[in-house]
Amino acid sequence: MLKFLFYFQKQMQQPIINVENVKKSFRTVKAVQGISLTIAPGEFVAILGPNGAGKTTLVEMIEGIQKPDEGEILIKGMPWKGNEHKLNRILGISLQETWFIEKLTVFETLRLFASFYRLDKDRALEIMHIVELQEKKNAYTKNLSGGQRQRLALGISLLNYPELLLLDEPTTGLDPNARHDIWEILHKLKDEKNTSLVLTTHYMEEAEFLCDRIVIVDKGKVLAMGTMEELLAQCSFNEIIEIGFEEEPGIRLHLLPGVLNVRKNTKPNLFALDVTRITQTLPVLLKELEERNVEVQTLICRKPTLDDLFISLTGRHLNA
Ligand SMILES: Nc1ncnc2c1ncn2[C@@H]1O[C@H](COP(=O)(O)OP(=O)(O)OP(=O)(O)O)[C@@H](O)[C@H]1O
Ligand SMILES: [Mg+2]
Repeated sequence: MLKFLFYFQKQMQQPIINVENVKKSFRTVKAVQGISLTIAPGEFVAILGPNGAGKTTLVEMIEGIQKPDEGEILIKGMPWKGNEHKLNRILGISLQETWFIEKLTVFETLRLFASFYRLDKDRALEIMHIVELQEKKNAYTKNLSGGQRQRLALGISLLNYPELLLLDEPTTGLDPNARHDIWEILHKLKDEKNTSLVLTTHYMEEAEFLCDRIVIVDKGKVLAMGTMEELLAQCSFNEIIEIGFEEEPGIRLHLLPGVLNVRKNTKPNLFALDVTRITQTLPVLLKELEERNVEVQTLICRKPTLDDLFISLTGRHLNA
Protein backbone atom coordinates (compact mmCIF):
# COMPACT_ATOMS: atom_id res chain seq x y z
CA MET A 1 0.00 0.00 0.00
CA LEU A 2 2.76 2.43 1.02
CA LYS A 3 4.67 1.56 -2.11
CA PHE A 4 1.59 2.29 -4.20
CA LEU A 5 1.06 5.64 -2.46
CA PHE A 6 4.68 6.55 -3.03
CA TYR A 7 4.38 5.64 -6.72
CA PHE A 8 1.13 7.58 -7.00
CA GLN A 9 2.66 10.64 -5.35
CA LYS A 10 5.65 10.48 -7.70
CA GLN A 11 3.36 10.30 -10.73
CA MET A 12 1.42 13.30 -9.45
CA GLN A 13 4.59 15.33 -9.03
CA GLN A 14 6.04 14.48 -12.40
CA PRO A 15 5.62 17.35 -14.87
CA ILE A 16 3.65 16.50 -17.97
CA ILE A 17 6.11 18.54 -20.02
CA ASN A 18 9.71 19.35 -19.29
CA VAL A 19 11.55 21.55 -21.77
CA GLU A 20 15.17 22.15 -20.94
CA ASN A 21 17.23 24.80 -22.73
CA VAL A 22 15.86 23.97 -26.16
CA LYS A 23 17.29 25.63 -29.27
CA LYS A 24 16.30 25.45 -32.92
CA SER A 25 17.62 27.36 -35.94
CA PHE A 26 16.65 27.41 -39.60
CA ARG A 27 19.78 28.45 -41.51
CA THR A 28 20.43 31.93 -40.14
CA VAL A 29 17.13 32.28 -38.24
CA LYS A 30 17.41 31.46 -34.56
CA ALA A 31 13.75 30.48 -34.09
CA VAL A 32 14.09 29.20 -30.51
CA GLN A 33 17.05 30.34 -28.49
CA GLY A 34 17.26 28.41 -25.24
CA ILE A 35 13.76 27.98 -23.80
CA SER A 36 13.11 26.06 -20.57
CA LEU A 37 9.62 25.33 -19.34
CA THR A 38 7.92 22.92 -16.95
CA ILE A 39 4.21 22.20 -17.10
CA ALA A 40 2.30 20.36 -14.37
CA PRO A 41 -0.48 17.82 -15.05
CA GLY A 42 -3.81 19.58 -15.44
CA GLU A 43 -2.19 22.93 -16.04
CA PHE A 44 -3.29 25.25 -18.86
CA VAL A 45 -0.42 27.27 -20.26
CA ALA A 46 -0.49 29.90 -23.00
CA ILE A 47 2.49 30.71 -25.17
CA LEU A 48 1.83 34.31 -26.07
CA GLY A 49 3.93 36.24 -28.55
CA PRO A 50 3.93 38.21 -31.80
CA ASN A 51 4.44 36.81 -35.33
CA GLY A 52 7.72 34.98 -35.71
CA ALA A 53 8.33 34.73 -31.94
CA GLY A 54 9.03 30.99 -32.20
CA LYS A 55 5.73 29.70 -30.79
CA THR A 56 4.99 27.15 -33.52
CA THR A 57 8.60 25.95 -33.59
CA LEU A 58 8.54 25.41 -29.82
CA VAL A 59 5.19 23.64 -29.83
CA GLU A 60 6.14 21.45 -32.80
CA MET A 61 9.28 20.36 -30.96
CA ILE A 62 7.12 19.39 -27.96
CA GLU A 63 4.83 17.52 -30.38
CA GLY A 64 7.82 15.60 -31.76
CA ILE A 65 7.24 17.06 -35.25
CA GLN A 66 10.53 18.99 -35.19
CA LYS A 67 13.77 17.99 -33.52
CA PRO A 68 15.58 20.47 -31.29
CA ASP A 69 19.19 21.30 -32.28
CA GLU A 70 20.04 21.37 -28.59
CA GLY A 71 18.34 20.76 -25.27
CA GLU A 72 15.91 18.14 -24.04
CA ILE A 73 12.15 17.65 -24.13
CA LEU A 74 10.46 15.10 -21.88
CA ILE A 75 6.75 14.29 -21.90
CA LYS A 76 5.74 12.53 -18.67
CA GLY A 77 9.44 11.94 -18.13
CA MET A 78 9.95 10.33 -21.55
CA PRO A 79 11.99 11.65 -24.49
CA TRP A 80 10.42 11.30 -27.96
CA LYS A 81 13.12 8.95 -29.20
CA GLY A 82 12.02 5.38 -28.57
CA ASN A 83 8.66 6.43 -27.04
CA GLU A 84 6.83 7.65 -30.15
CA HIS A 85 4.02 5.16 -29.84
CA LYS A 86 3.33 5.82 -26.14
CA LEU A 87 3.57 9.59 -26.50
CA ASN A 88 1.32 9.75 -29.54
CA ARG A 89 -1.35 8.09 -27.41
CA ILE A 90 -1.07 10.76 -24.72
CA LEU A 91 -1.09 13.74 -27.06
CA GLY A 92 -3.84 15.55 -28.92
CA ILE A 93 -2.56 18.12 -31.36
CA SER A 94 -3.98 20.71 -33.67
CA LEU A 95 -1.62 22.51 -36.03
CA GLN A 96 -1.69 26.19 -36.97
CA GLU A 97 -3.29 25.31 -40.31
CA THR A 98 -5.47 22.28 -40.83
CA TRP A 99 -6.30 20.93 -44.26
CA PHE A 100 -9.27 18.60 -44.47
CA ILE A 101 -10.22 16.34 -47.33
CA GLU A 102 -12.78 18.53 -49.10
CA LYS A 103 -14.92 15.70 -50.38
CA LEU A 104 -15.47 14.16 -46.96
CA THR A 105 -18.24 15.27 -44.65
CA VAL A 106 -17.68 16.30 -41.05
CA PHE A 107 -18.76 12.89 -39.78
CA GLU A 108 -16.70 11.02 -42.37
CA THR A 109 -13.66 13.10 -41.42
CA LEU A 110 -14.09 12.29 -37.74
CA ARG A 111 -14.62 8.59 -38.52
CA LEU A 112 -11.49 8.54 -40.66
CA PHE A 113 -9.35 10.06 -37.90
CA ALA A 114 -11.04 7.83 -35.30
CA SER A 115 -10.05 4.78 -37.35
CA PHE A 116 -6.37 5.82 -37.07
CA TYR A 117 -6.72 5.27 -33.32
CA ARG A 118 -8.86 2.14 -33.81
CA LEU A 119 -11.84 4.02 -32.38
CA ASP A 120 -15.32 3.36 -33.67
CA LYS A 121 -18.10 5.57 -34.98
CA ASP A 122 -19.55 6.10 -31.51
CA ARG A 123 -16.47 8.05 -30.52
CA ALA A 124 -16.76 10.11 -33.73
CA LEU A 125 -20.39 10.87 -32.80
CA GLU A 126 -19.45 11.74 -29.24
CA ILE A 127 -16.80 14.18 -30.46
CA MET A 128 -19.25 15.72 -32.89
CA HIS A 129 -21.43 16.55 -29.90
CA ILE A 130 -18.54 17.84 -27.79
CA VAL A 131 -17.53 20.33 -30.49
CA GLU A 132 -21.18 20.96 -31.36
CA LEU A 133 -21.05 20.11 -35.04
CA GLN A 134 -24.15 17.88 -35.09
CA GLU A 135 -25.91 20.23 -37.48
CA LYS A 136 -22.99 19.96 -39.86
CA LYS A 137 -22.72 16.17 -39.67
CA ASN A 138 -23.28 15.72 -43.42
CA ALA A 139 -21.72 18.97 -44.61
CA TYR A 140 -18.61 18.76 -46.78
CA THR A 141 -15.59 20.14 -44.94
CA LYS A 142 -15.01 22.65 -47.75
CA ASN A 143 -18.33 24.29 -46.85
CA LEU A 144 -17.55 24.87 -43.18
CA SER A 145 -17.09 28.35 -41.75
CA GLY A 146 -13.80 29.33 -40.11
CA GLY A 147 -15.15 28.67 -36.62
CA GLN A 148 -16.60 25.30 -37.62
CA ARG A 149 -13.27 24.27 -39.19
CA GLN A 150 -11.45 25.19 -35.98
CA ARG A 151 -13.96 23.18 -33.96
CA LEU A 152 -13.51 20.20 -36.27
CA ALA A 153 -9.73 20.48 -35.90
CA LEU A 154 -10.17 20.61 -32.12
CA GLY A 155 -12.52 17.62 -32.27
CA ILE A 156 -9.91 15.59 -34.14
CA SER A 157 -7.31 16.46 -31.53
CA LEU A 158 -9.69 15.22 -28.80
CA LEU A 159 -10.55 11.87 -30.41
CA ASN A 160 -7.99 9.76 -28.56
CA TYR A 161 -8.87 11.05 -25.05
CA PRO A 162 -5.57 12.99 -24.83
CA GLU A 163 -4.05 13.79 -21.46
CA LEU A 164 -2.13 16.60 -23.08
CA LEU A 165 -3.50 18.96 -25.72
CA LEU A 166 -1.21 21.11 -27.84
CA LEU A 167 -3.12 23.68 -29.85
CA ASP A 168 -1.41 26.11 -32.18
CA GLU A 169 -3.56 29.25 -32.44
CA PRO A 170 -6.89 27.45 -32.08
CA THR A 171 -8.96 30.63 -32.33
CA THR A 172 -7.02 32.88 -34.68
CA GLY A 173 -9.26 34.74 -37.08
CA LEU A 174 -12.48 33.78 -35.30
CA ASP A 175 -15.11 36.25 -34.20
CA PRO A 176 -15.62 36.66 -30.44
CA ASN A 177 -18.60 34.24 -30.33
CA ALA A 178 -16.77 31.45 -32.12
CA ARG A 179 -13.74 32.05 -29.91
CA HIS A 180 -15.86 31.81 -26.75
CA ASP A 181 -17.34 28.51 -27.99
CA ILE A 182 -13.86 27.03 -28.17
CA TRP A 183 -12.91 28.44 -24.78
CA GLU A 184 -15.97 26.77 -23.28
CA ILE A 185 -15.05 23.37 -24.72
CA LEU A 186 -11.52 23.71 -23.35
CA HIS A 187 -12.74 24.85 -19.94
CA LYS A 188 -14.92 21.77 -19.68
CA LEU A 189 -11.96 19.52 -20.45
CA LYS A 190 -10.00 21.11 -17.65
CA ASP A 191 -12.81 20.78 -15.14
CA GLU A 192 -14.00 17.31 -16.09
CA LYS A 193 -10.94 15.50 -17.45
CA ASN A 194 -7.99 17.31 -15.87
CA THR A 195 -6.50 17.63 -19.35
CA SER A 196 -3.25 19.59 -19.64
CA LEU A 197 -3.11 22.24 -22.33
CA VAL A 198 -0.48 24.25 -24.11
CA LEU A 199 -1.84 26.72 -26.59
CA THR A 200 -0.20 29.40 -28.63
CA THR A 201 -2.01 32.65 -29.17
CA HIS A 202 -1.71 36.28 -30.15
CA TYR A 203 -4.70 37.16 -28.00
CA MET A 204 -4.02 38.44 -24.51
CA GLU A 205 -7.60 37.90 -23.43
CA GLU A 206 -7.43 34.26 -24.52
CA ALA A 207 -4.29 33.67 -22.47
CA GLU A 208 -5.79 35.49 -19.51
CA PHE A 209 -9.20 33.86 -19.63
CA LEU A 210 -8.16 30.28 -20.29
CA CYS A 211 -4.77 29.70 -18.79
CA ASP A 212 -3.26 29.26 -15.35
CA ARG A 213 0.09 30.48 -16.57
CA ILE A 214 1.27 32.60 -19.46
CA VAL A 215 4.65 32.42 -21.14
CA ILE A 216 5.49 35.56 -23.11
CA VAL A 217 7.95 34.83 -25.90
CA ASP A 218 9.66 37.06 -28.41
CA LYS A 219 12.52 36.41 -30.83
CA GLY A 220 12.88 32.82 -29.65
CA LYS A 221 13.27 33.67 -25.98
CA VAL A 222 11.03 33.72 -22.91
CA LEU A 223 10.60 37.33 -21.80
CA ALA A 224 8.43 36.58 -18.79
CA MET A 225 6.26 33.79 -17.40
CA GLY A 226 3.82 33.36 -14.57
CA THR A 227 0.22 33.81 -13.58
CA MET A 228 -1.51 36.96 -14.76
CA GLU A 229 -0.94 38.55 -11.32
CA GLU A 230 2.74 37.58 -11.31
CA LEU A 231 3.25 39.01 -14.78
CA LEU A 232 1.51 42.27 -14.08
CA ALA A 233 3.48 42.62 -10.86
CA GLN A 234 6.53 42.87 -13.13
CA CYS A 235 5.20 46.15 -14.54
CA SER A 236 6.84 49.07 -12.82
CA PHE A 237 3.50 50.94 -12.92
CA ASN A 238 0.17 50.20 -11.22
CA GLU A 239 -2.17 52.55 -13.01
CA ILE A 240 -2.07 54.00 -16.46
CA ILE A 241 -3.61 57.19 -17.76
CA GLU A 242 -4.61 56.88 -21.38
CA ILE A 243 -5.33 59.98 -23.40
CA GLY A 244 -6.88 59.88 -26.87
CA PHE A 245 -6.68 62.54 -29.58
CA GLU A 246 -8.73 62.65 -32.76
CA GLU A 247 -5.73 63.77 -34.79
CA GLU A 248 -2.03 63.24 -34.38
CA PRO A 249 -1.26 66.10 -31.95
CA GLY A 250 2.13 66.89 -33.48
CA ILE A 251 3.87 66.74 -30.12
CA ARG A 252 6.88 64.55 -29.46
CA LEU A 253 4.88 62.63 -26.86
CA HIS A 254 7.41 59.84 -26.44
CA LEU A 255 9.89 62.37 -25.01
CA LEU A 256 7.61 63.34 -22.11
CA PRO A 257 8.40 61.83 -18.67
CA GLY A 258 6.54 58.66 -17.67
CA VAL A 259 5.29 57.90 -21.18
CA LEU A 260 4.65 54.20 -21.65
CA ASN A 261 3.51 54.12 -25.23
CA VAL A 262 2.21 56.20 -28.06
CA ARG A 263 -0.17 54.56 -30.52
CA LYS A 264 -0.55 56.59 -33.69
CA ASN A 265 -2.35 54.33 -36.11
CA THR A 266 -5.48 53.97 -34.02
CA LYS A 267 -8.59 56.10 -33.76
CA PRO A 268 -8.21 57.95 -31.49
CA ASN A 269 -4.41 58.25 -31.35
CA LEU A 270 -3.62 56.87 -27.93
CA PHE A 271 -1.04 57.92 -25.51
CA ALA A 272 -0.42 56.10 -22.23
CA LEU A 273 1.50 57.32 -19.24
CA ASP A 274 2.46 56.14 -15.80
CA VAL A 275 0.06 57.73 -13.34
CA THR A 276 2.80 58.33 -10.78
CA ARG A 277 4.51 60.73 -13.19
CA ILE A 278 1.53 62.93 -14.04
CA THR A 279 2.70 65.86 -11.96
CA GLN A 280 5.69 66.13 -14.28
CA THR A 281 3.95 65.16 -17.50
CA LEU A 282 0.51 66.74 -17.48
CA PRO A 283 1.47 70.42 -17.10
CA VAL A 284 3.86 70.20 -20.08
CA LEU A 285 1.36 68.22 -22.12
CA LEU A 286 -1.59 70.51 -21.39
CA LYS A 287 0.45 73.57 -22.29
CA GLU A 288 1.54 72.01 -25.59
CA LEU A 289 -2.03 70.96 -26.39
CA GLU A 290 -3.36 74.42 -25.71
CA GLU A 291 -0.71 76.05 -27.86
CA ARG A 292 -1.54 73.72 -30.73
CA ASN A 293 -5.26 73.87 -30.18
CA VAL A 294 -5.53 70.09 -29.95
CA GLU A 295 -8.61 68.62 -28.34
CA VAL A 296 -8.50 65.66 -26.00
CA GLN A 297 -11.08 63.10 -27.07
CA THR A 298 -10.84 60.53 -24.28
CA LEU A 299 -9.12 60.28 -20.94
CA ILE A 300 -9.21 57.14 -18.85
CA CYS A 301 -7.36 55.64 -15.95
CA ARG A 302 -6.81 51.90 -16.25
CA LYS A 303 -4.82 48.94 -14.94
CA PRO A 304 -1.85 47.70 -16.98
CA THR A 305 -2.39 44.86 -19.45
CA LEU A 306 -0.03 42.24 -20.84
CA ASP A 307 0.42 44.50 -23.86
CA ASP A 308 1.74 47.25 -21.58
CA LEU A 309 4.13 44.75 -20.03
CA PHE A 310 5.23 43.60 -23.49
CA ILE A 311 5.85 47.21 -24.55
CA SER A 312 7.84 47.89 -21.41
CA LEU A 313 9.96 44.80 -22.13
CA THR A 314 10.41 45.23 -25.88
CA GLY A 315 9.30 48.70 -26.95
CA ARG A 316 6.75 47.08 -29.29
CA HIS A 317 3.10 46.10 -29.11
CA LEU A 318 2.18 42.42 -28.91
CA ASN A 319 -0.08 42.73 -31.95
CA ALA A 320 1.66 45.53 -33.79
N1 LIG B 1 10.76 25.63 -41.71
C1 LIG B 1 11.29 26.83 -41.56
N2 LIG B 1 12.28 27.27 -42.37
C2 LIG B 1 12.84 28.49 -42.20
N3 LIG B 1 12.48 29.37 -41.24
C3 LIG B 1 11.50 28.99 -40.42
C4 LIG B 1 10.85 27.72 -40.53
N4 LIG B 1 9.92 27.63 -39.54
C5 LIG B 1 9.98 28.79 -38.88
N5 LIG B 1 10.93 29.61 -39.39
C6 LIG B 1 11.28 30.95 -38.89
O1 LIG B 1 11.46 30.84 -37.49
C7 LIG B 1 10.92 31.98 -36.82
C8 LIG B 1 9.89 31.52 -35.82
O2 LIG B 1 8.78 30.99 -36.54
P1 LIG B 1 7.48 30.37 -35.84
O3 LIG B 1 6.62 29.84 -36.91
O4 LIG B 1 7.93 29.44 -34.79
O5 LIG B 1 6.85 31.67 -35.18
P2 LIG B 1 5.42 31.87 -34.51
O6 LIG B 1 5.67 32.52 -33.18
O7 LIG B 1 4.67 30.62 -34.54
O8 LIG B 1 4.76 32.96 -35.48
P3 LIG B 1 3.20 33.14 -35.91
O9 LIG B 1 2.55 33.87 -34.78
O10 LIG B 1 3.29 33.99 -37.13
O11 LIG B 1 2.62 31.79 -36.17
C9 LIG B 1 10.37 32.88 -37.92
O12 LIG B 1 11.34 33.85 -38.21
C10 LIG B 1 10.16 31.94 -39.09
O13 LIG B 1 10.29 32.62 -40.31
MG1 LIG C 1 2.91 30.04 -35.37
